[in-house]
Amino acid sequence: MVKVDLTGCDSFVGKEQFQAYVEKALAAQVVLEEESGAGNDFLGWQHLPSAIGKDEIADCLGVVDRWLAKDIDLVVVIGIGGSYLGAKAAIEALSHTFANQLGTHGLKVVFAGENLSEDYTAELLDLVKVRNAACVVISKSGTTTEPAVAFRLVKNHLEEAYGKAEARERIVAITDKARGALKSLSNQEGYKTFVIEDNIGGRFSVLTPVGLVPIALAGFDVAAMVKGAKDAEKALGARKADNPAVRYAAMRNLLYDGGRKIELFASFNPKLQYLGEWLKQLFGESEGKDGKGIFPASVIFTTDLHSMGQYIQDGERMLFETVITVENAGREVTIPSDPQDLDGLNYLAGKHVEHCNRMAQLGTKMAHIDGGVPNLDIRVDKLDEYHLGQLFYFFEKVCGISAYVLGVNPFNQPGVEAYKKNMFKLLEKPGY
Ligand code: PA5
Repeated sequence: MVKVDLTGCDSFVGKEQFQAYVEKALAAQVVLEEESGAGNDFLGWQHLPSAIGKDEIADCLGVVDRWLAKDIDLVVVIGIGGSYLGAKAAIEALSHTFANQLGTHGLKVVFAGENLSEDYTAELLDLVKVRNAACVVISKSGTTTEPAVAFRLVKNHLEEAYGKAEARERIVAITDKARGALKSLSNQEGYKTFVIEDNIGGRFSVLTPVGLVPIALAGFDVAAMVKGAKDAEKALGARKADNPAVRYAAMRNLLYDGGRKIELFASFNPKLQYLGEWLKQLFGESEGKDGKGIFPASVIFTTDLHSMGQYIQDGERMLFETVITVENAGREVTIPSDPQDLDGLNYLAGKHVEHCNRMAQLGTKMAHIDGGVPNLDIRVDKLDEYHLGQLFYFFEKVCGISAYVLGVNPFNQPGVEAYKKNMFKLLEKPGY
């Protein structure tokens, strides 16, 4: 199971203070699990992993099989926010970093509809025109502008390139079961559709078809991911003070109430960059409301120690850092000896690169604690589908508990509407 090491907070908080927050977190856990808190009509994610059966997995894999049979080599996954970040985080974490440059064959997933940049859109169209393409369009509301614009363009291309009937076979829509423009369009055009249940909000939807279909298309084992989440669902349901989700939720609230307004999610593995983006959405949209909330930020170390490191070490003391540690690297690379040692690196000869990374992590932890930054460490054994499934569920559960301790509804996002209203007015959308 996901492990939580809070010893890096020992010099910042007292044991009794922490125990008081553990009690608060345990009370919040009961509210969450007994579905008696604000936003309790959006708790479908809580028992989702144990509800996913073979049929649901087979339905996702059916899309992969159908498209592989057509030799499709590019799938454009269109979505934004919760309809984008979970799949992006998982695919980035699990893929070979240089898969594109290596020119490996097979189906590749790219993302669109998560921005309105004309350059990005034009370059996406350059790509789909030279590939055997298909498209997954994801929008729970079915009305979000960014994915709708991208989908109209990709749909037009598919219809022009392959004809309307064949384009229909190359489009999958993931949306609400009844509402929204995407649902009516899909009904009319006869697309294969997957339903996002009413009781699961976007940022909690990575283990629904929203995440599972793109992740399966990228070639990863979604059954293992669901198994990891299912094990987490079971383990994190324990109403005990040693429940890692309870302890972590307690500590982040204690630190916040003590003036630590920013949580810096850090990892020493660049494959987790987009997990950081997913976390920023999960916690930012869930907790940042009513004038409250920890501001989530993310960094990749050691890279960002050479950019953000100065501030973290020495700037205003309003931060705590949560490091996501993968205990075992997936590959081994040993630093070679050099007879001349002109670079003075022979003291590392024979050592694994990951050993250096570990020592960098330890050195950073000690330095940051000395510099006044509390350190929380979230650990998993390996970076694979199973452990990512655990991490996704773990953070969702922490988020629900933590937001209830903070005293906000974790499952709404009223603040997201403000920019849309202005944009629609400026774009002269009918009705605005
Ligand atoms: O978490 C959320 O609810 C949001 O981030 C949504 O996922 C995002 O706004 C996209 O919405 P939709 O899936 O309706 O297009």
